[in-house]
Amino acid sequence: MGSARLTIWTNLLVCVLLLLKTEGGIVPLIRLEKAVSKGAVCLDGTPPAYHFDEGSGEGVNNWIVFLEGGGWCNNVTDCLLRKDTRRGSSDQMTEPRFFNGFLSENQKFNPDFYNWNRILVRYCDGASFTGDVEEVDPATNLHFRGARVFVAVIEELLAKGMQNAENAILSGCSAGGLATILQCDHFKSLLPAEAKVKCVPDAGYFINVKDTSGTQYIEEYYNEVVATHGSAKNLPPSCTSRRSPGLCFFPQYVASEISTPIFYVNAAYDTWQIHNIFARGSADPHGIWHNCKLDINNCSPDQLTAIQGFRTEFIKALSVTENSRSEGMFIDSCYVHCQTETQESWLSSDSPQLANTKLGKAVGDWFYERSPFQKIDCSFPCNPTCRNLAFDQQAHPGI
Ligand SMILES: *[C@@H]1O[C@H](CO)[C@@H](O)[C@H](O)[C@H]1NC(C)=O
Repeated sequence: MGSARLTIWTNLLVCVLLLLKTEGGIVPLIRLEKAVSKGAVCLDGTPPAYHFDEGSGEGVNNWIVFLEGGGWCNNVTDCLLRKDTRRGSSDQMTEPRFFNGFLSENQKFNPDFYNWNRILVRYCDGASFTGDVEEVDPATNLHFRGARVFVAVIEELLAKGMQNAENAILSGCSAGGLATILQCDHFKSLLPAEAKVKCVPDAGYFINVKDTSGTQYIEEYYNEVVATHGSAKNLPPSCTSRRSPGLCFFPQYVASEISTPIFYVNAAYDTWQIHNIFARGSADPHGIWHNCKLDINNCSPDQLTAIQGFRTEFIKALSVTENSRSEGMFIDSCYVHCQTETQESWLSSDSPQLANTKLGKAVGDWFYERSPFQKIDCSFPCNPTCRNLAFDQQAHPGI
């Protein structure tokens, strides 16, 4: 009797473990305590942190460093609101993390990268890993040190084996996608010279666009982010030598000078940009955009025209990158934000397709130079494969 019950429980346990295995198990958090002495810390002074799933087999010398996203903070008041959250303090990073999509350990769901060393670097600085201010105001205890965090984590990974990398990718989504663009050449310079290094920014191509009320809001906002965090010296010098540092936080003013091969993943109708920049709440006091923001099918003809205008601006801003053959591009017309981290948009039976190709396949083919991929989708609602991506910001923890 007792042993039969034990068998049932053992079977149940095996089932649960198998389930966790196919879903990808929880990947534990590693806090980089020794970075504190270098002043490489989160907003609140706690150590930076990352999740690490080790590579195996033929992937042992291959590395993906994926930078988490999560918006920005643009002034002391705003950064104080972030300081004691998981986006400003590693003490608050208590939620479990699973690796899916580009970071999945499952060969079926991620055939080109499943056995690589896969790292998710947690975002706790509020300026896309660019900040570096020496002084800490004792009244606020705010540390603006994102650029130091980036270097400290990369140095740690080099020591853990990335110094022998044969292949390496810097990636990230949203604010982490922007960091991927801004730090791409820097990342390449930190890796061994013989390694094949490329960058895959996802939903990081934030454009300098007026909002629906005609205000140049995002330009002013990025100015404040860069000023608050002392980011100027860590932005690409090819831009800062010619333009104001705030503008050099926009990919469109830095992209043409990036020399490392880069693959831009972005929806032309990036929901985060449409929600929070283009049709942001303050530009829409009467909430007439509310239902349209929830679902593009609810938009009025005027709103659709405006959104198509956003797409036109987006493609124009992206056109500065078109000079290189080594570049990749997956610009779909889905209404989403961040597509590499979630299985349904990366590679699954009904993932969106561009030129009959799913995102996970396009990135793999490009990285391994099996075939180039530079595609911009036709405009909404032309792509029926977008339909499986019901917009749900809660389902995308990286945002
Ligand atoms: C700080 O930025 C926020 C927007 O993020 C704004 O609402 C607030 O007024 C700003 N505060 C100061 C003191 O400038």
